[in-house]
Amino acid sequence: MGETGKTQRISQEDIGRQLRFCEKLRELNEARPGGPPLACVQTYGCQQNVADSQRLMGMLRDMGCGFTQDPGRAEIIVINTCAIRENAEKKVFGVVGQLVHAKERNPDLTICLCGCMAQQETAAARIRASYRHVDLVFGPQALWRFPELLFEVRTRHKRVFSIAQERGAIAEGLPVVRESSVKAWVSIMYGCNNFCSYCIVPYVRGRERSREASDILAEIRSLVEDGVREITLLGQNVNSYGKDLDSPMDFADLLEEIDAIPGDYLIRFMTSHPKDAGRKLFDTMARCSHVAKQLHLPVQSGSSRVLRAMNRGYTREQYLEKAAYARSVMPELVLTSDIIIGFPGETEEEAMETISLIREVRYDALFTFIYSPRPGTPAASLPDTVSRAEKQVWFDKLLEEQNRISGELHRAYVGRRLRVLVDGESGDEQWPLSSRTHGGRLVHLRGDASLIGQYVDAEILDSNTWALFGAV
Ligand code: SAH
Ligand code: SF4
Ligand code: F3S
Repeated sequence: MGETGKTQRISQEDIGRQLRFCEKLRELNEARPGGPPLACVQTYGCQQNVADSQRLMGMLRDMGCGFTQDPGRAEIIVINTCAIRENAEKKVFGVVGQLVHAKERNPDLTICLCGCMAQQETAAARIRASYRHVDLVFGPQALWRFPELLFEVRTRHKRVFSIAQERGAIAEGLPVVRESSVKAWVSIMYGCNNFCSYCIVPYVRGRERSREASDILAEIRSLVEDGVREITLLGQNVNSYGKDLDSPMDFADLLEEIDAIPGDYLIRFMTSHPKDAGRKLFDTMARCSHVAKQLHLPVQSGSSRVLRAMNRGYTREQYLEKAAYARSVMPELVLTSDIIIGFPGETEEEAMETISLIREVRYDALFTFIYSPRPGTPAASLPDTVSRAEKQVWFDKLLEEQNRISGELHRAYVGRRLRVLVDGESGDEQWPLSSRTHGGRLVHLRGDASLIGQYVDAEILDSNTWALFGAV
């Protein structure tokens, strides 16, 4: 594994065949006495997973299905899963276990389980043996064949598993249901070749593969024409973009081409792997007015020894140098990161090196995790002698430090006027709107719901560890 090779692109003929399965299902659905069924799509994973769910919903809509959030009312339930940590899996097994009663009440109910857990051998075997009420199981690489797989289940009434190990392909032209008219996700690449020693993603998401720039640009152009204001480019490591294309280009080149699309919109992206993020990317970000000055640059650890054991491909010093350069060309940069505490063999001293790194970088926000062994990854077979309780102590120290830093950085916003995008309602009476700064910080706003979808100038009045509060 880890090899690079030619990316397979699904032909429009093959996509057309899937769309015809949607039509066939639509005809069957519309001919039913009660009319087309309701579908419920539940998403448990990252943004990539959310984007996949929007494609699944697009296909279900083309089958004539309506949508509900309530699994009790649905006749087709799709559970889009995540395998990144054990907790994510436990949650899904709980949810799936509950559905056994729903299936007993309604034998016509179709239960589908897809996403990263479906592609993980041990989880799929458990579903096959012990969760017999699940009808359809398919991994992320089989997503584009969902119409055909569902057709088989719904017409032949048998269980279907499509979980063979696949390196994955690029499928263009699948329908999509976007949940917001203000923000959109655009996948620019799929899969991962990095094999960080703790991580399951390369085993469940296949090899790195990039969409053609022309397809990405066409999608973004049409989103901007539709009035979408914020577009987040997605990939496990966007900095690997383009390596597999016939006419190679890199991520910075792609950003530059996107930036040339006229309109009032912002481009964000995630995730950037530090080993491939360099001066060219930061200079391009600084120069491109549509590109948000926001960077999610996961460091994982502040110890060079642990970083090597994680197979991350950079040292503490190299990371600090990159972060400092990015800040020097973008003084307003909002910088965030992911951290893993308790990697096998990590000592207390090494965990404290991580805390000293976050003190040095002063991230705007962090996503923090306690290490969770993933079956089949190299780290899972390393000796791990530190107790969970001790890891929790290190973890709490880290959180306390980060909360202090975020609180300080947020306080510095109070009294400033900022341009923010109003993206929805917050559900809070005092601050009814939710909005984001260019750097992606959350601002709860006083103002009228008619402002949703617009950029407004907000005065920041208050702050806490997690958010800012302001008025239009
Ligand atoms: N491709 C992204 C990460 C995707 S997973 C990147 O490389 O930055 C999101 C985060 O989950 C990772 O950054 C890591 O911090 C965390 N994570 C991944 N595997 C984990 C594991 N086995 N235990 C705990 N956290 C993990
Ligand atoms: Fe996982 Fe590393 Fe790939 Fe991110 S870059 S998805 S952490 S293997
Ligand atoms: Fe989870 Fe898969 Fe995303 S494992 S984090 S849903 S890529």
